[in-house]
Amino acid sequence: MAWYNVRRVMEECLAIKPDLVFLWDEAWFAFASFNPIYRTRTAMFSAASLTRRFKRTKYRKKYEAYQQQLAQVAANEQSAWMLENKLIPNPDVARIRTYTTQSTHKTLTSLRQGSMIHIFDQDFRRKVESTFNEAYMTHTSTSPNYQILASLDIGRRQAELEGYEMVNKQLALSMTLRQSAYQSDRLKKYFDVLVNKDLVPAEFRESGVEPTLTLTPGLAKWKKPGPMMSLSSIQAGSPYILVKPG
Ligand SMILES: Cc1ncc(COP(=O)(O)O)c(C=O)c1O
Repeated sequence: MAWYNVRRVMEECLAIKPDLVFLWDEAWFAFASFNPIYRTRTAMFSAASLTRRFKRTKYRKKYEAYQQQLAQVAANEQSAWMLENKLIPNPDVARIRTYTTQSTHKTLTSLRQGSMIHIFDQDFRRKVESTFNEAYMTHTSTSPNYQILASLDIGRRQAELEGYEMVNKQLALSMTLRQSAYQSDRLKKYFDVLVNKDLVPAEFRESGVEPTLTLTPGLAKWKKPGPMMSLSSIQAGSPYILVKPG
């Protein structure tokens, strides 16, 4: 599951090696594409987004400005400068070649072993297709399990039709659980609810923006766990994340 910024990782790596092929393990993240809260952290979204970005004139100008800045740094200081500054790939050279594996059976609906490989590779047809198919045939069974295959198709359909709502519900439930743990005098003795600033030290939170999912005063307002909070308040970034329904 990718809580780091996938697009930024790819972007900076492509500045170092523009033909790098990315293989992302999204074993537990198959649900992510179906909700805007998670989608931007997926490999497929990031690959498409970078492809669009590299075509923009604005990006090209940014790259040229970056090159000019770099040229002004003394040769023996360039490595240190690059460590301090975000790396920007050359849009004329960088290729977007991204593969991701998802265990559909883990977080969506499918029989055990049902999994998918998603591909966003500009060079797939030209460079990869036949070797990829050969490797796939080598490692897969010659007697496919049609029940697993059918269940994958059902899982895909369900995610497409109901995924957004289901992920929203799951988010709401996890917030309710968090709220309950936070407010129960018994549980409070043993559990702490971690928020962003507990997980990411201040020096790595460049924006300085405090986490929107603050526990106080939003959660503390509630005397008893129970009513589900409105997700719209989370998405709007309100510090009061719980909204009493009706
Ligand atoms: C991070 C990660 N990658 C890959 C796998 C393997 O996935 P699969 O069950 O589809 O073989 C797992 C399984 O637990 C996992 O946790």
